[in-house]
Order: sequence, then C-alpha cells, then structure tokens
Amino acid sequence: MAVTEQALAVDGGVPVHRGGWPRWPVWDEREEQALLGVLRSGTWGMVHGSKVTEFETAWGRFQQAQHCVAVVNGTSALEVALRALDIAPGDEVIVPPYTFIATAAAALLAGALPVFADIDPETYELDPAAVEAAVTPRTRAVIPVHIAGCPPDMDGILAVAKRHGLRVVEDAAQAHGAEWRGRRVGALGDLGTFSFQSSKNLNAGEGGAIVTNDEALFRRVWSLHNVGRTLSTDWRTSGWYQHDILGFNYRLTEFQAALLLAQMSRLEEQMARREQAARFLDRELAAIPGIRPQARDPRVTAHAHHLYVLRYDPAAFGGHTRSQFLAALRAEGVPASGGYTDPLHRSPAVVHAVRDLCSRLGRPDDARLQQPLPVTERASAVEGVWLTQSVLLAEPGDLQHIPEAMGKIQRAWAG
Ligand SMILES: Cc1ncc(COP(=O)(O)O)c(C=O)c1O
Repeated sequence: MAVTEQALAVDGGVPVHRGGWPRWPVWDEREEQALLGVLRSGTWGMVHGSKVTEFETAWGRFQQAQHCVAVVNGTSALEVALRALDIAPGDEVIVPPYTFIATAAAALLAGALPVFADIDPETYELDPAAVEAAVTPRTRAVIPVHIAGCPPDMDGILAVAKRHGLRVVEDAAQAHGAEWRGRRVGALGDLGTFSFQSSKNLNAGEGGAIVTNDEALFRRVWSLHNVGRTLSTDWRTSGWYQHDILGFNYRLTEFQAALLLAQMSRLEEQMARREQAARFLDRELAAIPGIRPQARDPRVTAHAHHLYVLRYDPAAFGGHTRSQFLAALRAEGVPASGGYTDPLHRSPAVVHAVRDLCSRLGRPDDARLQQPLPVTERASAVEGVWLTQSVLLAEPGDLQHIPEAMGKIQRAWAG
C-alpha cells in the first residue's frame, strides 16, 4: 500500500496526533508553598501537626461524609475498613473481579475469602444480581468498586446488602467527587476508601483516606490507623502508650496532606473539564462501528472519569485483536491501554492466596474460583480499552484526534 495521508501510522503513514498530551500531575507555586511551609515549620508528622487534620476535614466535607481518616494508601484504607468491621478469618467478602488487586488482597489480608461476582456488560460495574447470587451464610461484606470513577448500581447493591445483613465498603480509590443520585460516594455504605497514589485524580504520590457517617466506626478506624490508640483530647500525651486494640501505623505525613490540600484547589475545575471531554468522546466515538463507550446509569449524577473506558469489537475492525488496535492507536499518537488484562479470579497471586487460606481453614479449595465470569473475562481479554484521566484534560483540538484516529483505523481495517 502506498504511504499516503490515509495510511495508518503503524504502516508508515502520518500519525493523526503529533503533539503531546497534558502532563500529570499538575502543580505550580501552590504546591511549592505548601511543601515549603511544612518543611520550614519543622513539624513533618501528623502527631504534632495540623495539615493532616485540616485535610481530613476538607476531604470529608468534599465527599459529604461526616468523618474522614487519612492513611498511607488506598490498599491500607481497605485493610483498615475491613478490620474496623471485624471481618475475620473464614468470612466471605464479595468483590468484583474487574478491579485492582488491592480490593481482593484486602479481604485476604484480613483472612477472609474474596468471592467474585461479575460485572455488568454495559457499565463494567459490579452487578447487584451477581452479588445476590454469590451470597452464602458466610458472607459478611461486599465491596462495590467505583471502577473508572463511575458508581455501580448502588441502590441495587445496598438493597442486597440490607436483605442479607452485609456490611458495605465502597472502594472509591478511583472515584474522587463521583455521585450517586446527587450524593457523593464513600459514605453511601458503611465505609468508603480513597487512594491518592500518583495516577489518581487527587495525588500526593501516595496516600489514602477512609470516610464514614458512623461515629463508632470512625473511632475504630482512627484507632486502627494510629497503632490502636484511643481517640481523645489527650491521645498525644497521657494516651500515647495506651493501646486498647492492635493497630497499624498508617498515618499520613504533613507533607502529603499539604500537597493534597493544594491539589484540591483544582479538583472541581478538573472534574468539569473531564466531564466535558468525556461527553464529547461519548458522542463522537458512538458513531464509529465497533466502538462502544462505557454506558452510564442516569442515576450517576457525577462520574469522576479516572479512566475513560470503551469496548472494542474486533469484528467491526476486520478481526484485528485489541493488542493490534492498541498498537495502531499508539502509532497514531493516542495513548491507550487494555486495562486490567488479568481478571482477579485468574490472578496467580489471588488463586494461590485463596488455596492457602482454604487449606489453613481446613476447607476444600474454593471451587467458585474455577467458575467462569464471562463479562469480566471478555472485558479483560477482548474488548476493554482505557484512556487515562489526564488525557481528558487535553484541549478540544487534541481530543478531536482520538475519534479521528479510531475512525481512521476502523475504515482501514474494515476494508
Ligand atoms: C480500585 C482500586 N482499589 C484500590 C487501590 C489501591 O490504592 P493504592 O495504590 O493507593 O494502595 C487502587 C489503586 O490503584 C484502585 O484503583
């Protein structure tokens, strides 16, 4: 084929997008001042500082939760949440298989068995009917994950939880500012957890938080993250060596809290830009045969767009695989990935840990792990394609290159 304007870049043609994409993180003198302020204060730890408390108040308010405890990362936030709920060895916790490993690892670290319930094929979010089907007499909790920053059907999941007496921990690691029917996520269930790891929409390199509207759970979470100390006015002095429960040291530093407060000053504006970009892509990409953007339940009143997810159909692209599509897309200058390629129920780490736990509990290997979860398997192996949140911060002229590149590839391959 002659190399012309229309030749695919992967075949030596001219790429659709030749510039860069927005850098992440975004920072300026606000972050510099915040970090220098903590440095110069000489108070770098939460124990004697005020920035962590200030951030906890601000984050709780932002997520419309009465209480917030900042911790070192999103994984420890989940671990603390499950401990606070007394999830114990042998209990079962229902999780989606289409998520980061931390969601299932937190259950395993608490000695509980993760039981996988499939996702909805339109939204890729945890399906309440699959949750209900996974409930057994041992089930104690469910972890709905707001994957990509989009809440699953929380009405459905909360109703299943209520019917079966389950505790609900929202994994909102990707869902800063997301809303379900006008209420921000995190405190829709018993507890909600966030991550501030470097790719996240609010970022301090690492960091996490737990939110709740339940005062007793808040006190327990606080104690667990601060080596089992009891929250009181004198915990820093006479309560310092009083440890009423076994806990962790998962305290955030003052530097991270100051950075997060500075990053928060941009969050609403970035959310609005991502929303506008996602609406534009939804419209433009829906017109390309074989590309279907993640569907959005109308009850999702705010999507955090940590990821922009679409479903790729090889049949509309002349049978080319997703890997070939991603390579062609990258050659056109559009950075996309296949996302979670290892469903958690097939992840070697999870499979080994479940087997090990079952043998320690004296139970047969958990046969449920062998069961197919077809929607997740298809999403992971065949159709899931992700763009990251920072791409959504691009200028309209650059964003336009995403549908242009996908359309160009589709026309070339459809023949
Ligand atoms: C859905 C989900 N849960 C949990 C985590 C864990 O957060 P962290 O990396 O801060 O430990 C992440 C982060 O990647 C995540 O995406």
